[in-house]
Amino acid sequence: MEHIEETAPEVADAIHGEIEREENGLEMIASENFASRAVMEAQGSVMTNKYAEGYPGKRYYGGCEHMDTVEELARERALEIFGADHVNVQPHSGTQANMAVYFSVLEPGDRVLGMDLTHGGHLSHGHPANFSGKLYDVQHYLVDEETGRIDYEGLAEQAQEFEPDIIVTGASAYPREIDFERLGSIADEVDAYHLADIAHIAGLVAAGEHVSPVPHADFVTTTTHKTLRGPRGGMIMCDDEHASGVDSAVFPGTQGGPLMHVVAAKAVCFNEAQTDEFDEYQAQIVENSRALASVLKDDGWSLVSGGTDNHLVLVDLRDEPITGKDAEEALEDVGITVNKNTVPGEEEPPTVTSGIRVGTPALTTRGMGTEQIERVGSMISRVLSNIDDESVKQEVADEVETLCDEFPLYPDLS
Ligand SMILES: Cc1ncc(COP(=O)(O)O)c(C=O)c1O
Repeated sequence: MEHIEETAPEVADAIHGEIEREENGLEMIASENFASRAVMEAQGSVMTNKYAEGYPGKRYYGGCEHMDTVEELARERALEIFGADHVNVQPHSGTQANMAVYFSVLEPGDRVLGMDLTHGGHLSHGHPANFSGKLYDVQHYLVDEETGRIDYEGLAEQAQEFEPDIIVTGASAYPREIDFERLGSIADEVDAYHLADIAHIAGLVAAGEHVSPVPHADFVTTTTHKTLRGPRGGMIMCDDEHASGVDSAVFPGTQGGPLMHVVAAKAVCFNEAQTDEFDEYQAQIVENSRALASVLKDDGWSLVSGGTDNHLVLVDLRDEPITGKDAEEALEDVGITVNKNTVPGEEEPPTVTSGIRVGTPALTTRGMGTEQIERVGSMISRVLSNIDDESVKQEVADEVETLCDEFPLYPDLS
């Protein structure tokens, strides 16, 4: 950091501040994680200097031999991990990965059937405020409000009526295993493409903790920074028949030069994802999430779908005197970071909401197991039941501090 301190001290201060925030708080945003020092080293390397438009062996710039090496490594490892025919590791983000898939097979005005945002879907699955909702004719499917689970039968009927060109599956806030095989058959029955977006669960899929959509989808997109614990970025996997369409939709279709420092970091991340330790980590994420759900339920909180099969828990606060916003703020006050989240049947605006989404990937990376997560669950309960009681909040803030000290995150950075 000595270089930044010299040339841009305000930026150095902000980075130091962020290191302290990450080190001294309990990070429970389900889409966040802590990348390894190796991933960050690659991301902060000279690979950021190079233009490498095109693909390995077919670049539009000279001097790309080392770019080819890292991109090939990233591609080979991704294919080994997920077992797809083809992969493109250049998308800058999950949204851009989805955009490239749409552009590879859809025309403006074509029909998209995706999960409703308030029921767990993502903006890029056809929300009106997103390009996907503006360019395409979109319908959304829902979860069953009683069970909190995807209404597969309702979805099949809706698909028969709407005749979508593509069905987008996968979610941002869905606590249960997704039946990709069934969704693939629903898409087949109506002759629609199936895009499975595993941005959230990619690490679980890589480790066999969640069923893989690869055999059941034409396209699989993901981010690389959530459960997969790599650099911030995206990736697309597809069948051979779509390989050249996807590649040209990424470049030159929607992107210019790839972020080669990020591609290098993806290669490092995929190396890590092939270890036994990574598999154990993913299994622990799920175990921790179940432990969290169980403590919260025992304390009387209502959970969407009654529990979890994956890395996150959705707390439904509709019958409580507090909103998602109140809960997020009160937890932030004590050093526990979660996000307010809509729940199925939501009546509050997205800036308020009636729920919180709580995830275990980041705390599991710190080495915490069920014992610690149960403690955290009880802290969350106490804060949410006493959001105006400063003494309870102070007590919990002290417990957060003790727990963080027990599980240092980046000891050589802070
Ligand atoms: C299911 C899903 N798809 C796509 C994305 C978009 O990823 P990004 O923020 O990298 O554009 C997200 C991000 O939260 C997501 O949850």
